[in-house]
Order: sequence, then structure tokens, then C-alpha cells
Amino acid sequence: MAHGDMTLKWDGSCLKLIDQRKLPFREEYVDCAQAGGVAAAIRDMVVRGAPAIGVSAAYGIVLAAKAYSGDSKDEFMSIIRQASSQLAASRPTAVNLFWALERMEKVVSENRDEDIEKIKGLLEAEAKNIEAQDIEINKKIGENGSKVLRGLAGKSLRLLTHCNAGGLATAGYGTALGVIQSLHEKGAVKEVLVDETRPYLQGARLTAWELYRLGIQAFVIADNMAAHFMSKGSVDAVIVGADRIAKNGDTANKIGTLGLSILAGYFKIPFFVAAPLSTIDISIAGGSDIPIEERPQEELRKVMGKAIIPDYIRVRNPSFDVTPNGNITGIITEAGVAYPPYTESIIKFREELK
Ligand code: MRU
Repeated sequence: MAHGDMTLKWDGSCLKLIDQRKLPFREEYVDCAQAGGVAAAIRDMVVRGAPAIGVSAAYGIVLAAKAYSGDSKDEFMSIIRQASSQLAASRPTAVNLFWALERMEKVVSENRDEDIEKIKGLLEAEAKNIEAQDIEINKKIGENGSKVLRGLAGKSLRLLTHCNAGGLATAGYGTALGVIQSLHEKGAVKEVLVDETRPYLQGARLTAWELYRLGIQAFVIADNMAAHFMSKGSVDAVIVGADRIAKNGDTANKIGTLGLSILAGYFKIPFFVAAPLSTIDISIAGGSDIPIEERPQEELRKVMGKAIIPDYIRVRNPSFDVTPNGNITGIITEAGVAYPPYTESIIKFREELK
């Protein structure tokens, strides 16, 4: 997705989300005309990826505000609070969700003396800002990341990525895929190995589709093939996104990222995380405090709707894992690339967000 015009579309009264459960075979949109519909779309993976979840939740608040037709400020405030709690309960790990909701709540609290119609307009403007800023931020991440990665091998790069951190996971352009796109624009990408990303197959279904549309040479591999390609010297760098980064740089991302980081360390391959500063949660000291979502068993039991594990067999399905800061070569943000010790570099960058 080159321009980010597909993940979500706001038409003034409805949030249209491309149904990521149906990609790449069907391009269908789900219309969300109520905050509850947005919360369900996030929970059910119509929209996913940390920044895209945050932007969608912001529009969820706009929908809640617009649906109120009374004239009681207290009632209006309480409806916004309810919508915010409903949206906050949709998924627990990606901090961008809570960050975006806080931004929306701040608009309400700072303008509590204005009339209701004015607050509705301000909320809509803020959601549009969050969306537009996300694309701008991703382009900066792409630029910052491509500068660093270009210097790595002195030749066209063979990259490996996990899950989907592309236009579909953001308002547009993507974080890890934004870096890959920026490198590609400079002729610096030879090929990308795309982990299929069991159990939800974001890599096979979404990342490979995005790279194909961008004209970037990509090969889908099963997750358990990464070590093989690394051992053959076929990977110059790994680049992934993030759902929540603790103050010390520990990073929660799609399940399987931790294993990849360990492999990268073993084979001495640079391992980069690309994420906006809004993904950094400085209220959390280390990765062990990041809440890890456990998703429905169905996702593991079935592959594209077909059962492969019978009901009497028990399964576990944690959706994220935490990569310790020591396994991360650098964290690419819109403010620059943070290097260890992250406690210092992250705080410095995060202060710029205030
Ligand atoms: O469960 P998902 O598909 O929402 O998980 C997405 C990821 O783990 C992404 O890597 C992360 O959100 C970064 S998206 C720019």
C-alpha cells in the first residue's frame, strides 16, 4: 500500500475499515457508524496493528460524540467516557490505543466549557490530526531507518520481517515496511523474507500482499525457516514493528519476534525495531509489566476457517512476546534511531513528543 488510502476512510459520519480478515483474496470494507462497532472491529481483527488501532479508536470517540443529540454537558461527558472505556477494552497490548484515547479525552477536558457542538468538531479535528500525523511520522521513520540500514551491507539488502507493520497496520506507509519502502525507493532492497506469522498469518496474508503491490521482491517463509536462511548468510538485517516499548527498550511485538531476535543475535544479524514514539510507554519500566493478550483458541485450531486441531486437544495462544532490549540493535523512531542504553535514548526522544 503505497499511499495509505486503504486501511481506513473517514467520511464524516462513518469509519470504513478494510476487512483485514479477508485480505488478500477479498478487498471488502466494514462500515462502523458507532463507537461500539469500532471496538468490535478492533477486537475481531478487522483492523489491527498498533497505530491503526489507535487511529480507529480516535474515530470511535468521534462517532460516540456525534451520536449524542441532547444538551446536557454531563451526559455528553459520560457518553464519551463510556465509549473510551469500551474502546480501551478491545485489545490490551498495543499502547497506541490508550495513547490515542488519552489525546481525545484531553480535547474534551481542555474544552469542557465550550458548547457540545464545538467539542464534537474539535474531536473530529483531533482524530483527523492523529491520522495525518501517523502517515507523516511513518515517512520520517522510513527515512531515518533507511539511512541507517543502507550503511549496513554496502549492497542491496536482504531483509527479514515478521507480522505486518505496513500501511495496513497504520494510517498509511507503515513502520517496518515504511523503512523497507524507503530503502526500496533508493534501490537498496534485494529481497524481503516474510515470516508467515502463525497463527493469524499477518505476514503471509498482509505483508506479502503489500510488498507485492509496492513491487518489492518478497518470499513468504514459514516461521520455522528463519534460522535456516540466517545460517546460510541470506539475511542482512531483521526489521519488525512494535506494540509497546517499555522505558528500558524491552519491546512487545507479535508472537515469534522474541525467537527471531535470539536467532539474529546468534547469527550476528542486526535486529531493528521501527515504531512511532507513541508506542513507547514510559510508565512501564520493563517488558515484564507489558500486558500480553491471549487470543481465542480458534485462531490456532483453525487455518483460514479449517480445523486442524480437534477440540479435545488443548492449546495456548498468546498474541505477543517481549524482546529484551539487549537483543535490539536500534529502535527507529520519527525523532531518530535510539541505541542502547535505551533508558537514556528513549527518554530523550520521548520528551520531544510532549
Ligand atoms: O495482532 P496484530 O496484528 O495487531 O499485531 C500487530 C503487530 O504485532 C505489529 O508488528 C505492530 O502492531 C506494529 S504495526 C506498525
